[in-house]
Amino acid sequence: MSNNLIIINAHIVTPQGRTARKGEAMNELLNIPCGTVRVTDGIITYVGENRISHEKPGYKVLDARGNVLLPGFVDSHTHLVFGGFRPDEFIWRLNGDSYMSIMERGGGIINTVRATREASFEELKHKAEWFLDTMSRMGVTTVEGKSGYGLDRDTELKQLSVMQAVNECPDRKVDIATTFLGAHALPEEYKGRSDAYIDFLINEMLPMIHQKQLAENCDIFCEKGVFTVEQSRKLLKAAQALGFGAKLHADEIVSFGGAELAGELKALSADHLLQASDEGIKALAQNNVVATLLPLTAFTLKEPYARGRKMIDSGCAVALATDLNPGSCFSGSIPLTFALACIYMKLTVAEAITAITLNGAAALGRADRIGSIEAGKQGDLVLLGTDNPHILPYYTGMNAVKLTIKGGRVLH
Ligand code: NIG
Ligand code: FE
Repeated sequence: MSNNLIIINAHIVTPQGRTARKGEAMNELLNIPCGTVRVTDGIITYVGENRISHEKPGYKVLDARGNVLLPGFVDSHTHLVFGGFRPDEFIWRLNGDSYMSIMERGGGIINTVRATREASFEELKHKAEWFLDTMSRMGVTTVEGKSGYGLDRDTELKQLSVMQAVNECPDRKVDIATTFLGAHALPEEYKGRSDAYIDFLINEMLPMIHQKQLAENCDIFCEKGVFTVEQSRKLLKAAQALGFGAKLHADEIVSFGGAELAGELKALSADHLLQASDEGIKALAQNNVVATLLPLTAFTLKEPYARGRKMIDSGCAVALATDLNPGSCFSGSIPLTFALACIYMKLTVAEAITAITLNGAAALGRADRIGSIEAGKQGDLVLLGTDNPHILPYYTGMNAVKLTIKGGRVLH
């Protein structure tokens, strides 16, 4: 398949820049009603009016017929490599159990840890590729993938190696940005010894993963009953010292100081933030930490939505992601994410587009390479089936994507 592509007659809609867009700037999109994008060897080499000749040998030409062309979507928070499923827990929650009460009984994340330890490399890879194919059809061209269902050396490495193997396929549909989430829960072997587990992650796991180049970023579930703010600070500082970007599952269930810590550490992102305090929101804005909001999780857990409108009005850079995982949110639906963000978090369509493209890229430390339609960035693009970008939340929970383009290759 050729990586040289010229798209003509496109309604180009894109944020611009190589860093996250904050506050009001999230609304500022470049809008070219009838434009051309050229991709050469997988990289964008022209964006502008329909001026350049499209008669170029060696290029495939695609007529967008006035339809909307966006940057490929960046789903910057998922747990897509895991064994088993947890439908029983979903039913228990429908009957009134809470997410944390199931976790306290030894279910939840630990349940998936057992299944992931038992699963073979091939099983995990096959399942991850199924999710990636589905997400690609919804316009996703880069996804974040976390470990965190092993909680021991070999299984954490197995999860990360699955993602590495996907990234090594030349015809992959989606790139995976890998995140080490060894501090997702306390494994049974370390019961009552959570400080010792954090030390194990710092002294053994982080240096090994760094040396093998198996992850770019490091994350922790900083939450009451899981890991404390102090433990999170210790782990993430050690990770940053090795060159990993820091990310946190922060203030998901209770207000716990996770957003404040993210600000203090100048983390790449703080994620969830359903219960983030006003002080925490200020800390994110002042320290350029991307606030990654996951509306599908709030929806599935029947929790209040994160205060997206307030965060943007306070000057935060907000990203949107799915949180696809077998427990709190078994959905990777980009269309539903758009709808919930606009309806319940009160984002404008332009803000939601920025959140799921450029700001998602920034939350992964990749805004220099992806997240907007600009010369020099990867030719990762999404063509909608209409000329109006408002279709994204309006066509509620339905897929408005007609074509996904990865590095100049038209996929589907
Ligand atoms: O982002 N909250 C922690 N981690 C995931 C849930 C993982 C699971 O339940 O398996 C989340 O919601
Ligand atoms: Fe998560």
